[in-house]
Amino acid sequence: MTICYFTASGNCLYVARRIGGTLLSIPQLMRQKKIEIEDDTVGIVCPVYAVELPFMIVDFMKKADIKTDYFFFILTCGYGYEVSLGHAEVAARERGWDIKYGNGVFMVDNYLPFFDMDEEIRKLPEKNVEGQIDAICADIQARKERRVKLTTELKEQMEFYHKTHAPKVINKNMALDYTVNDDCIRCGICAKVCPANNITITEDGICFSEHCEVCYACLHNCPQHAIHLPKEAGTKQFRNEHVTLADIVKSNE
Ligand SMILES: Cc1cc2nc3c(=O)[nH]c(=O)nc-3n(C[C@H](O)[C@H](O)[C@H](O)COP(=O)(O)O)c2cc1C
Ligand code: SF4
Ligand code: SF4
Repeated sequence: MTICYFTASGNCLYVARRIGGTLLSIPQLMRQKKIEIEDDTVGIVCPVYAVELPFMIVDFMKKADIKTDYFFFILTCGYGYEVSLGHAEVAARERGWDIKYGNGVFMVDNYLPFFDMDEEIRKLPEKNVEGQIDAICADIQARKERRVKLTTELKEQMEFYHKTHAPKVINKNMALDYTVNDDCIRCGICAKVCPANNITITEDGICFSEHCEVCYACLHNCPQHAIHLPKEAGTKQFRNEHVTLADIVKSNE
């Protein structure tokens, strides 16, 4: 089994690890000229962003050649994944891929403008993350089918959020509004955890470019908590408790 994953604060890496097999980082795969993956089981694990998919996942699904008998797609999210799974189904069909199993895991929502990370962690027991992952692991082991049905209602929701919500939440210039305070020690970690090579450390400070994935890896993983958004709902950063900073660097560097 091969799993291609994208992670900023560790939830997807943790889920990918729990499912098992060979793990491949999508940001690193995307730096290759050609991406060819062949295995009896292949899956993608990525987060929901703005009721859609991260830009890089859409690009990955256009670029990669995947050959498998059993293709699965798992989204991690805070509060909902079904509409994003619809987008994954559309992208897969465009490539002639058949998502035999699509599902989602409700975890900490790392979207800092709306959610306080302390509150999100406090709510974790209600979400029963381990139970959700156990069920998905059992399904995948049994090669169960759980197809995404592109109903009229789902298509309407996809279009609605795509037009009204997504442009406000994710666009590639978003990092230009991030600020870096005087606690920054120029350690370079933010550049290493950025999956999009969107950060450079210069003598003048930390510079953000215009190809941001809006993943918040830099915000959540800065050891000085020096990077901030114009508006944040709480005061804490988040990284999945089973994942280290070194794991995020290894995934995205
Ligand atoms: C920019 C952004 C937008 C997000 N939008 C949604 C959303 O629409 N719905 C949702 O349930 N979670 C949303 N999330 C939460 C993430 O999908 C969730 O926390 C995910 O598990 C993070 O994965 P990671 O820890 O592997 O980076 C969003 C997170 C970010 C950073
Ligand atoms: S990770 Fe934080 S402290 Fe390190 S260079 Fe980036 S902003 Fe500065
Ligand atoms: S600049 Fe920050 S939010 Fe944007 S892609 Fe890089 S790590 Fe993610």
